[in-house]
Amino acid sequence: MDTKVEYLDSNMPNNEIIKKAGEVIREGGLVAFPTETVYGLGANALDEEAVKKIFIAKGRPQDNPLIVHVASTEIDDLVEEIPDIARKLMDKFWPGPLTLIMKKSSKIPYVTSAGLDTIGIRMPSNAVANKLIKESGVPIAAPSANISGKPSPTNIERCIEDLLGKVDYIIGGEVCNVGLESTIVDCTVEPPCVLRPGGVTLEMLKEIHKDIYIDPAIMKKPEGDFRPKAPGMKYRHYAPKAPVKIISGNLQKTIAKINEMVQNYMDTGKTVGIMATDESIKNYPKGIVKSLGSRKDLRNIGKNLFKTLREFDDENVDIILSEAFEEKGIGIAVMNRLKKSAGFDITYIND
Ligand code: TXA
Ligand code: MG
Repeated sequence: MDTKVEYLDSNMPNNEIIKKAGEVIREGGLVAFPTETVYGLGANALDEEAVKKIFIAKGRPQDNPLIVHVASTEIDDLVEEIPDIARKLMDKFWPGPLTLIMKKSSKIPYVTSAGLDTIGIRMPSNAVANKLIKESGVPIAAPSANISGKPSPTNIERCIEDLLGKVDYIIGGEVCNVGLESTIVDCTVEPPCVLRPGGVTLEMLKEIHKDIYIDPAIMKKPEGDFRPKAPGMKYRHYAPKAPVKIISGNLQKTIAKINEMVQNYMDTGKTVGIMATDESIKNYPKGIVKSLGSRKDLRNIGKNLFKTLREFDDENVDIILSEAFEEKGIGIAVMNRLKKSAGFDITYIND
């Protein structure tokens, strides 16, 4: 398939290009586009055949439901009812990185919800995404625009790398602001439950409902019945080619441990990547070292995480060693993605 690539961003949203991309969606095609979280791979959410193409292009398991993207809070025809809590969360956090799970209406085909009676809906704040949805005139089903299993693309180059030849259109150019996928809140249960942490943090959600909690299964290795509630959270995910290992503990001891591991791997002829921070980068004399940013700005670390994981792919490293972050605020989302990319391989160093 010929994929058309068009560069534009929120500051210069070329309306003609967005109009054409909207037409492609309306006619049942696939368009990759930027959002404030990660790039999405969109199709008309109400068109079964179009949605099926998403699963094929990504190599996505069929039991993993898609998020439906809308351009306003008028979603009555997509859901059976809007629970009070969903209304409140929408009013506070839309447009933005928050997906709300509600009971779906019959308008949403089961292909989109992967057989579930519920559907995740989100209104992105990115101007290109918003215009594209409006131009297409339909809600857009869009998973992250990566090949299944890989870290989500946070810039257009990674979209092109994964999807060229597999989709009709790739539009964008800007770097995603949040860099981590949206927070997902299940609004069909009381109290509401966070199925995936993201840019809207637990602390922010608790201001709307004090009993909101995070699905405890998502921060640990899935075992037995202790499994995440969101179908997609059970898969190995966000994984670069090389295995990732996390070293967690006091920073000085972490640095010493990582340097010791680097030496051991190098002795066996391996190329080692190190995910460091601005505070530690100078303390790693060997290996390929990249900083995620300053520990003082965890949002920026979240923004750089997927980008950096994918850069290690380009370097063809054999193993990636990463520092850990405090599981607080946006740090919960950062550590959730990092742990999943590492397949929960964490070494804890006692202080
Ligand atoms: O930020 C985002 O949400 C991005 C951008 C493109 O908007 N999209 C995204 O989609 O991350 P995807 O498909 O990569 O992740 C969707 C997640 C999966 O873990 C899926 O299992 C979960 O949402 N999900 C979707 N519908 C659900 C439902 N009805 N119940 C439970 N989990 C659901
Ligand atoms: Mg994804």
